[in-house]
Amino acid sequence: MENIIEVKNLYVKLGNREILKDINFEIKKGESVVIIGPSGCGKTVLIKTILGIIKPVKGEIYIFGQNILKLEEEEIKKIRSKIGMVFQNSALFDSLKVWENVGFYYLYHSEKTQSEIKELSLAILKKLGFDESVIDMMPEQLSGGMKKRVSIARALISNPEIIFYDEPTTGLDPITSESLTELIKNIHNDFNTTDITVTHDVKLASRIGKRLILIDEGKIIESGTYEELKKKSNHPLIKSYVEIGG
Ligand SMILES: Nc1ncnc2c1ncn2[C@@H]1O[C@H](COP(=O)(O)OP(=O)(O)OP(=O)(O)O)[C@@H](O)[C@H]1O
Ligand SMILES: [Mg+2]
Repeated sequence: MENIIEVKNLYVKLGNREILKDINFEIKKGESVVIIGPSGCGKTVLIKTILGIIKPVKGEIYIFGQNILKLEEEEIKKIRSKIGMVFQNSALFDSLKVWENVGFYYLYHSEKTQSEIKELSLAILKKLGFDESVIDMMPEQLSGGMKKRVSIARALISNPEIIFYDEPTTGLDPITSESLTELIKNIHNDFNTTDITVTHDVKLASRIGKRLILIDEGKIIESGTYEELKKKSNHPLIKSYVEIGG
């Protein structure tokens, strides 16, 4: 199967600190991979680097076979248009209604009319379990779990081939986390996306990731299925979850 993402020998420095060190991994089309690691280990920096937002000091990043570090901004934008991003903290625009948030990409990057975009937004919101009343709401009227689902709808509207989820369950109660975990699994199956989720939530990781990549202090410590890590890893993040019976 083809590699949809390849990261080789990646080093990232911010200020004087080395944040990521010699990161190497490959993700095949259709995989659901979880990058797991404690707070501050460099997960968000890694996503931002893959998306071309942070420039590494060294390394290669291939997306759809193209080395994004060698591309012009216009070409990177084309690649980004095939990637859905669910940001940590949802990152909705407070002054825009739900449908404008979901349809943001089309509102500012297409010739589609407002009513067409509203239609498209509603269709995707319905697939994620919302009813029509949500479309004219403002983000401040939504619960944390609803905000996450709206931000997933925003990522899905352009039919992405790849979706990045940054800490999708952080800050949610256990029941809402559970339903979000199911939602992410369903989207993966229904939309045939390749998913890369970064999280410190081992429960989420063990449920959605066929393959886990464990990072700490900017380095890959190990990788494998959750069952494999459960057996071989002495990392506190994995051990503490195993100890509570996970
Ligand atoms: N723009 C920046 N300038 C300098 N240092 C930064 C910057 N962004 C992140 N860092 C540092 O890089 C390290 C990794 O940050 P990052 O946000 O990637 O962690 P994370 O693994 O996503 O953590 P969390 O699980 O809490 O979201 C941290 O020590 C952080 O302080
Ligand atoms: Mg983060």
